[in-house]
Amino acid sequence: MIRVGILGATGYAGAELVRILRGHPDVEIAVITSRQYAGVSFSDVYPAMRGIMDMPCREYHIDHFVNQVDVVFTALPHKLPMSVVPELMAHQIKVVDLSADFRFRNVPVYEKHYQHHTAGKLSESAVYGLSEIHAEKIRTASLIGNPGCYPTSLLLPLIPLIAHKMVKTGSIIADAKSGVSGAGRSISLGTHFCEVNESFKAYKVADHRHIPEMEENLSIAAKEPVQITFVPHLVPMTRGMLTTIYAELCQPASENDIREHLESYYHDRYFIRICREGIFPDVSHVKTTNFCDIGLKVDKRNNRIVLVSVIDNLVKGAAGQAVQNMNLMMGLDERTGLDSVPLPV
Ligand SMILES: NC(=O)c1ccc[n+]([C@@H]2O[C@H](COP(=O)([O-])OP(=O)(O)OC[C@H]3O[C@@H](n4cnc5c(N)ncnc54)[C@H](OP(=O)(O)O)[C@@H]3O)[C@@H](O)[C@H]2O)c1
Repeated sequence: MIRVGILGATGYAGAELVRILRGHPDVEIAVITSRQYAGVSFSDVYPAMRGIMDMPCREYHIDHFVNQVDVVFTALPHKLPMSVVPELMAHQIKVVDLSADFRFRNVPVYEKHYQHHTAGKLSESAVYGLSEIHAEKIRTASLIGNPGCYPTSLLLPLIPLIAHKMVKTGSIIADAKSGVSGAGRSISLGTHFCEVNESFKAYKVADHRHIPEMEENLSIAAKEPVQITFVPHLVPMTRGMLTTIYAELCQPASENDIREHLESYYHDRYFIRICREGIFPDVSHVKTTNFCDIGLKVDKRNNRIVLVSVIDNLVKGAAGQAVQNMNLMMGLDERTGLDSVPLPV
């Protein structure tokens, strides 16, 4: 059995980790942490878990982890993981960090958009956990910077085209719509029921912190600097994310050519599903699953490709991909514990 610890287990991403790992056949959850709920049973925080996960939360202390866990998931706000990950790793514990702290190879870019990094060297050696793209590196990694939800939904459809010089790198525009759980569990005016219900708004227009993460990874795939325009939106649903990407094709190409290219790029990747001609994905098709569904259309009049991707922000966009990465790191089939059947409606 793989013994795991979850830091920040009572947040939305952490609770999703508990849900997935509780059903993982090769995992035993050894310790879960929370400051506010230290000493409180997880099922008292999330009553749906009664009888399923009654373990009490603990305050974080390194002694609860040394020789007691093999892998730790840090589902904490950014800035906190960089202070705990070095000591966990010093005790040969593998880490999958869900925050932004270890996503950047270029640490000055992280520092420009977040804050001073106190474990910059570790960040440079971490592996970016976009499972389908970096599976080989992930298998031998000790520290994974798990991707953000918006970057996951944008990079999975775009990297195969960027890497094969099929789209003009200076022409990429994307917009994405996220469910409110993307903002986490803590209370804020912007995610208050009356502020989001029956409404729909753009926010952080062309200014979201996930843009440098997307650009770093697109630039690596393109082998040249890539800049994009990206606009996120908040929609009144609990979970789910739909991203639409528009880009100019380098050469005229048929929709079939591009679909075949995506299908062949991801031919052995269970969690990527390319939609048939005329079918576009719906967030409800991937709810609670680790799938990323991708639809596409060539706008022949303008020589543009339009790509539409959907993920569950809490699963493929956070906890599911984190577990997929743990599976790869621990030599398991990447699907283990993640093969739940989608909800038909
Ligand atoms: N939500 C998503 O869709 C999503 C997607 C991708 C990545 N992520 C990343 O996952 C991480 C967790 O996100 P989340 O949405 O689960 O957030 P959240 O719901 O706000 O949960 C944060 C967790 O961290 C704990 N925590 C410990 N110290 C804290 C501190 N000083 N301030 C605030 N919380 C503290 C909280 O519990 P206590 O306060 O009791 O300690 C809680 O368990 C973030 O880095 C986020 O960027 C989230």
